Parts: sequence; C-alpha cells; structure tokens
Amino acid sequence: MNTTTTSSLTDLLETRRTVGRFIPDRPLPEGVVEKLIHLATRAPTAFNLQNWRFIAVESDAAKERLQAVAYGQPQVRDASVTFIVCGQTEAYRHLFARLQPAVDAGMIPSAVQQGWSDMATASHENNPQLQRDEAFRSASLAAMTLMLAANELGYASGALSGFDPAALAEAFELPAHNIPVMLVTVGHAAERNWQQKPRRPLSEVLERV
Ligand SMILES: Cc1cc2nc3c(=O)[nH]c(=O)nc-3n(C[C@H](O)[C@H](O)[C@H](O)COP(=O)(O)O)c2cc1C
Repeated sequence: MNTTTTSSLTDLLETRRTVGRFIPDRPLPEGVVEKLIHLATRAPTAFNLQNWRFIAVESDAAKERLQAVAYGQPQVRDASVTFIVCGQTEAYRHLFARLQPAVDAGMIPSAVQQGWSDMATASHENNPQLQRDEAFRSASLAAMTLMLAANELGYASGALSGFDPAALAEAFELPAHNIPVMLVTVGHAAERNWQQKPRRPLSEVLERV
C-alpha cells in the first residue's frame, strides 16, 4: 500500500497472518499469558462494560477437550495456549460497580455512573439480542487486540470460529451467560504457514459519503 505512514503498528497490521501450524510442546514463558490478557483488555467496550472472560487452555488434558469440540483442528493441540474468548450477556448488572474505579479516580462523576448504569439496564434487561450483540462486539475487539499483542511480543496467532459452541460450553462448564465467541491460538510458528492473504481492493470495500 502506498502510504507515508510507518510505525510498528502499521508494520504489525501489514504482516500479521493467521498461523495454523505451530511447533508443538513449547509453552510460553511465565507471565506471558497474563501480559497478553492485560493487553487484550485494553480494548474498549460499550459503557466500559468489560463483558468478557478468557479461558487459557494450556494443559494437555484441557487441549484434548478443546480439540474434540473444535472439529479436531490440530492447532488447538499444538499452539502453546488457546484462549476461549467469551462474551458475557449479564454484564449490565455489574456496570455500576465496574464504573466505580473511574469515579474513584475522579474521571467520571457519580451521576454519570448512575446514568450509564440505568441506561445499560434499560437497554439490555429485556433484550437478549442486544446482550448477545454486545457480547460478540466486545469479545471480537478483545480477540483482535489479543492477536496483535501476541504478534507484537513475537508469537504467532490465529482466530478460530470452527468449534461447536454448545459442546464447548458443556466441556468447559460455561454458564449460559458466557458465550464462547472465538478461540485465539498463540504459540510458535512452524514452517509452511501462509503469509497474510490478499484482501479485497479498497474500491470494493470502502464507501465515502
Ligand atoms: C472469526 C474467524 C474465524 C476463523 N476460524 C478459523 C478456523 O476455525 N480454522 C482456521 O484454520 N482458520 C480460521 N480463521 C482464519 C481465517 O481463515 C484467516 O484469518 C483468513 O483466511 C485470512 O488469513 P490471514 O489472516 O492470514 O490473512 C478464522 C478467522 C476469523 C477472523
């Protein structure tokens, strides 16, 4: 792409690719899982709902369980870790408490805390479609942020929606209000992975009005 912008983020976006083949049996160093989720949760959410949950699947036994509900995809076994990125549908109930740190920091007045909390309750309470939409939005933003963070730290990553959500929920005992939105693999790239695949031209995807 012809652009004058150069930054590490631009490079990352231009070169990030989906890795499907990982070198097996290479755990991540201590602290990396926490660092990745710390960075992933820098992603924004509506009202700062933070309606997400991350399950780091690292042990052989848990990987086996996950692979069985992910149509046998081998990257779930070979990646150092696969994160089950869940979106949560009942987060609006906790919004008042979740905004408290921003109130304590003097960022938002308590009237705004109450107002947002009331607004979120009014819009979400009897609207399962919105709860689910918001869960998918937040989990997807977190998943992308997680992949970029992994690449930035020198690891390879991939997103997967190829799993049976009901079977996964059962295998990992997810409550109904935790929706498994995406799997994100992180690990060490083996040989013979594709580079980033070509994208549709801007003329097809961009509209300016
Ligand atoms: C939501 C989502 C679901 C995906 N599911 C799978 C999957 O189940 N298995 C797989 O091998 N790749 C999966 N992929 C990877 C895509 O095939 C890949 O991102 C796409 O081909 C573009 O490749 P690139 O990111 O290397 O350019 C998924 C990607 C996304 C964003």
